[in-house]
Amino acid sequence: MPGLDGKVILITGAGQGIGRSIAEHLAQAGARVVLGDLAPPALGTLPPDRALAVAMDVTHEAMVKAAVAATLERFGRLDGLVNNAGLYSGILHRGFEQIGAEEWMRVMAVNTLGVHLCCCAAAPALRESRGAIVNISSAVAFKGSAGLAHYAASKGAVVTYTRTIAKELGVDGVRVNSVAPGFTLSDGILGSGRNDLEARKAAAQASRCLPRDQAPEDVVGAVAFLLSDAAAAMTGQTLVVDGGVVLH
Ligand SMILES: NC(=O)c1ccc[n+]([C@@H]2O[C@H](COP(=O)([O-])OP(=O)(O)OC[C@H]3O[C@@H](n4cnc5c(N)ncnc54)[C@H](O)[C@@H]3O)[C@@H](O)[C@H]2O)c1
Repeated sequence: MPGLDGKVILITGAGQGIGRSIAEHLAQAGARVVLGDLAPPALGTLPPDRALAVAMDVTHEAMVKAAVAATLERFGRLDGLVNNAGLYSGILHRGFEQIGAEEWMRVMAVNTLGVHLCCCAAAPALRESRGAIVNISSAVAFKGSAGLAHYAASKGAVVTYTRTIAKELGVDGVRVNSVAPGFTLSDGILGSGRNDLEARKAAAQASRCLPRDQAPEDVVGAVAFLLSDAAAAMTGQTLVVDGGVVLH
């Protein structure tokens, strides 16, 4: 993707799954990547001179600020933020009346407050670089998902939050967009131990224009595009990457 070379991009929830794929793809495209997760992710084959691992709980304001500070200390700038950390695969599916206040707030904390805290912490550096934010929402924001009222609401909030801060940051040249994946065979999904995985894969395939499974690598292109200069005139948008279920 043109325009990513040398950019410094912080990706949350980059220890595994979609976040990990995003980090690896961005590094391959020449970006310098900061991988944030609850524990510092292993860098593996990422080039050590262009990759940094930081421990950050996105719901913990001081840790989020420290992650941005560590990025600036190591690379001297921040050009992009990918708010990918989120709770999904481990969430129990249950009717909305069975979702208690504590469980509701646990999902909201990571999936919405976490996005907000990271955007706030990164904003000063992104204003300096005239950088970009990509928030990971979900296709359920547009189609709903029975049994996941809290999760669906949190991802709808991400879309609205994206539109709102795009309006606030645009004047400073900072773009804010979102990517909404459909059902993706991430590490979290594959490792969730649920016995209905095959049925869920089949249902997802049957609902798609493109009747196939979706992997984390399928999501990275849209993220890279929105971070890159190729999307210089795009802000406040959400790109759905779901094989053609939600059709805008
Ligand atoms: N997999 C899907 O089908 C799917 C579909 C649509 C959207 N999404 C979204 O994509 C994102 C990634 O999903 P995934 O399936 O790859 O997840 P995953 O479970 O494979 O990985 C999520 C990562 O986020 C980290 N994380 C969780 N809470 C955190 C916190 N408080 N602070 C920092 N890191 C934290 C985890 O440690 C983990 O490494 C999530 O926002 C999810 O809602 C996933």
